[in-house]
Amino acid sequence: MNRKEFLKRLAAAVGGFAVPSLASAASFERVLQDASAGSGEALWKVVRDQFVLDPDWTYLNFGGLGSCPLPVLTSFWEWTRSEERAPNAGHDAALWWSVKERLAKLLGPACRKEDLALISCATEGCNIIASGLPLKRGDEVITSRHEHVALNTALLHRAQQDGIVIRVFEPDLVRAQGNVERVAALVNGRTRLIFMSHVTCTTGQLYPVKEIAALAHERGIWLALDGAQAPVCVPFDITECGADFYTCSTHKWIMGPKRTGFLWVRPGLLDTLRPLVPGSAKFDVDKGEMAFQADAQRYEFGSQNDALFFAMGAAVDFVQAIGPGRIWEHNHRLAERFYRGLQEIPAVEIASPREEAFRTAMIGFRMKTRTVQQIMERTAKAKIRVRPVSEGGANCVRVSFHVCNQEAEADRLLDVLRQLA
Ligand SMILES: Cc1ncc(COP(=O)(O)O)c(C=O)c1O
Repeated sequence: MNRKEFLKRLAAAVGGFAVPSLASAASFERVLQDASAGSGEALWKVVRDQFVLDPDWTYLNFGGLGSCPLPVLTSFWEWTRSEERAPNAGHDAALWWSVKERLAKLLGPACRKEDLALISCATEGCNIIASGLPLKRGDEVITSRHEHVALNTALLHRAQQDGIVIRVFEPDLVRAQGNVERVAALVNGRTRLIFMSHVTCTTGQLYPVKEIAALAHERGIWLALDGAQAPVCVPFDITECGADFYTCSTHKWIMGPKRTGFLWVRPGLLDTLRPLVPGSAKFDVDKGEMAFQADAQRYEFGSQNDALFFAMGAAVDFVQAIGPGRIWEHNHRLAERFYRGLQEIPAVEIASPREEAFRTAMIGFRMKTRTVQQIMERTAKAKIRVRPVSEGGANCVRVSFHVCNQEAEADRLLDVLRQLA
């Protein structure tokens, strides 16, 4: 569907229903047409206007839960309405593949739609990888101390069920290269898999994944990445980063609907990673035969909520319309402004990496004089939404900057922290 058709269908779909201001969706459309809008404040104002976020609050937690912009909400509503009018089992394969094609383009020039499965979230992806690989009792998996519950529990489940052994390294926040060395120190003849974040949910640390991939592949070890915090949060290329398996929730930085995500499997490894829930295969029950789909669709199963994924496609279009490069520039600029401001508050301890190249759009900090709870209470009083982090004993507060945020919000949070300190 082209944009003109989209707007026409949108207008038809919303007649008489409570959908947030359409003028904003249309004004975003105008920005798309007006390439000369450039990267100035006017553009970011138009982008901000696409969000229904409570204007009384400053939302600095896209790393926790994203918020869908209007074109995504309206797309979701439009598809839901049309499907509820004429319920139909199965889905429009062309549209489904079109979502994968657009997503693949966002994930890198060499990414193929056939290698992507549309799944519910990174938690599902972590479990497919942890439980679907042929690991046996005594096989070792290396991970980091700063992983999300999704990855920790997926690995522990496999450890309880099949006796795999989990080896954990403490992130090096001073030297990125130190992480490669810490992984290398845990590798031995029993290591089969390194499974870790691409960007951590604790301090927003970008791991040197290419170097870790090289180390893994030299020794015949698989590398799987939990990328819930990476695509769109940092400059990104899925085939370049060196992973064999990659999963992501698309409701955060990609701004799709909740309960959407993807799993990517490097070409040639499909038959190595078994689906957890088979539901997409050719079979002959009399002969006892089953052959999975020839592509990553084998990890998709059951009736789908198509509207969720079609709207996720609209989120990909939204990101592409602004441009991932321009988004990174904007978010990184805000995060670095905040980082530098934190450095000037003596009571603050910065939890994020020392090297700028490994910092992202998320910054973590704590205070020598206040508990995380006290910081959370004070920021909530100022109506600023940030996230407390307890994972891996990080004991800090995490601040995420995304397209709807502006410098003044970073400065206001710094003011609040100065007062608290
Ligand atoms: C690194 C990481 N992995 C996995 C997840 C789980 O995401 P979901 O709840 O969408 O499955 C998160 C959520 O914050 C995360 O930050």
